[in-house]
Amino acid sequence: MFSPTSIRYISRNYIVHQLEIMVKNYKCFSEEVGFDAIQRVNLIIGRNNSGKSSLLDLIDAVTSKKYEFDRSTWRDNQRPQVFFQSVVTEEVATRTFPNNTRGGQIGGNHGDYGRQYIGKTIKWSKSGEERNNNSILIYCDDEGIRPPLRQSGDYHKHLPKNMPIFLEGKVFRRLLAERDILPEPASTTDIKISTNGTGLTNAIQCFINKSDLPSDLVERNILEGLNEIFAHDAGFTDIVCQLHDNNAWEIYLEEEHKGRIPLSQSGSGLKTVMSVLACLILVPHLEGKPLNSYVFGFEELENNIHPALLRRLNEYIYKASIEHDFIYFLTTHSNVLIDQFSKQSDAQIIHVTHDQQSSKCTTAKTYIENNGILDDLDIRASDILQSNGVIWVEGPSDRIYLNRWIDLWSNGTLKEGTHYQIIFYGGRLLSHLTAENPEDIESGISILNANRNALILIDSDKRSRQSRINDTKQRIKDEFDALNAFCWITRGKEIENYIPLEVVSARWGVHVTEHVGRYDNYFDYLDQLVSGEGTKYSSKKTLMAEELIPHMTRENLSQMLNISDSMERVCRSIESWNS
Ligand SMILES: Nc1ncnc2c1ncn2[C@@H]1O[C@H](COP(=O)(O)OP(=O)(O)OP(=O)(O)O)[C@@H](O)[C@H]1O
Ligand SMILES: [Mg+2]
Repeated sequence: MFSPTSIRYISRNYIVHQLEIMVKNYKCFSEEVGFDAIQRVNLIIGRNNSGKSSLLDLIDAVTSKKYEFDRSTWRDNQRPQVFFQSVVTEEVATRTFPNNTRGGQIGGNHGDYGRQYIGKTIKWSKSGEERNNNSILIYCDDEGIRPPLRQSGDYHKHLPKNMPIFLEGKVFRRLLAERDILPEPASTTDIKISTNGTGLTNAIQCFINKSDLPSDLVERNILEGLNEIFAHDAGFTDIVCQLHDNNAWEIYLEEEHKGRIPLSQSGSGLKTVMSVLACLILVPHLEGKPLNSYVFGFEELENNIHPALLRRLNEYIYKASIEHDFIYFLTTHSNVLIDQFSKQSDAQIIHVTHDQQSSKCTTAKTYIENNGILDDLDIRASDILQSNGVIWVEGPSDRIYLNRWIDLWSNGTLKEGTHYQIIFYGGRLLSHLTAENPEDIESGISILNANRNALILIDSDKRSRQSRINDTKQRIKDEFDALNAFCWITRGKEIENYIPLEVVSARWGVHVTEHVGRYDNYFDYLDQLVSGEGTKYSSKKTLMAEELIPHMTRENLSQMLNISDSMERVCRSIESWNS
């Protein structure tokens, strides 16, 4: 149904809707949180119970213009409030301030007065039910305009009322995370597909059997969609329905080598794909509305779906959104979706976090605004966004040492993957990374903004007590310090200067009397002890790390420089990320 189009190419031309939508005192949101803008694809990520689905409730309120919320959702007995913020356009100014009116508190021509508001930001709130919901001005950037908006008669009421909210009046169609497709009795009077899949069997049955519904939508469009999304994983040749003895209809999918399989007995991945296709193909027909009048909210599409299938389902939806010009929201725990959208300019990732008391949202702009750098670093957005905390190290050998040391200092309780994630920054690329707030800087990506639970390990590369660390390292250190995050610059020259003599002696079976010097080159030291080994391992640091870590103990390491203090701080940081 949707012709193949190049995702990347089209995405560059997309214009974001610069409308901020926030909610306060709703469920887990005690402060104002929500969307800084609305994109074509809006990916909402975060842990269970953080408030992802609740953010979709906000979209529901806006599209349906029902700004009155059920009492059970009020936070601390306070009525939820929805806020909007955007910029006054020429069209709105002209409509609000008539050219043919003069006098009153404004004095002169109201049209001239109103034109001063073009390009100014206003913030307003809405409340009440659809029929009599009202807009209240919260803020207006009217500095320098005389008289200010609030003293210009009723214009402080008219201006917010005239501000367009493009989502209002759209149909918000959700697909819940809990969904199923079951056999159903026939009902030809009320053909409705619910957000959890109820009614889908009956709807398909009606499309196939009823003469007033186009069977093509099922027999051709849905079938084509299924085959496009499943690609080589399955080949469907037909969709049919049959009436069982118990008067329930069942949908069957015919596969070339399997014959007819009832949908209720199929994998839940297939049911998810069917449910999405029904939203995009059958629902608009049943409701008599074009696809561009919809906004979709797909919840956890990844449930029971293989990553490759998920990618194709995702691409199918994305292509449809371009061809038919609709926007959509996804809540997800899937790194596939995060990574697929993290570098796309018409998508945004909204990260919802919960701190026991309330939830907040951060828009992870980092990836899109700095595309290229993360690619160079071969860093996946999901690694940063979904881990409890990130430890940045230069390369793979640092990771091997650090993992071993964390294991020793935490008595095996802290594990990479579960409690923290190690990511490489690569020495050369250190200068691209900055921990500063992105608002304060013009270039560079903000490590800490992406995941504020972070620490970094950097080689000092100092060759003597007098030498200073370079400016980039000093800047990173200052930024981490300012945020009370640990920046560990090695006390000696490099990480290898923490390797104690007992380890060398155990690995190479030689008698060693001195540790490597604090500012010495470790590989020269090794060459002197075992001829040729230093040269050999200087280009095989990862292999050496693997061979040495079994000989490392907390006792022999503790003799080296300040490693104990640093490791205690590392473990305390990781524990705090996981508390
Ligand atoms: N009246 C209320 N006052 C305060 N908090 C509330 C209220 N009603 C619900 N909550 C909280 O709002 C949150 C709702 O979470 P929501 O269902 O949006 O999470 P989610 O991120 O979609 O989770 P999942 O990934 O499990 O689907 C929960 O933490 C819940 O405890
Ligand atoms: Mg949810």
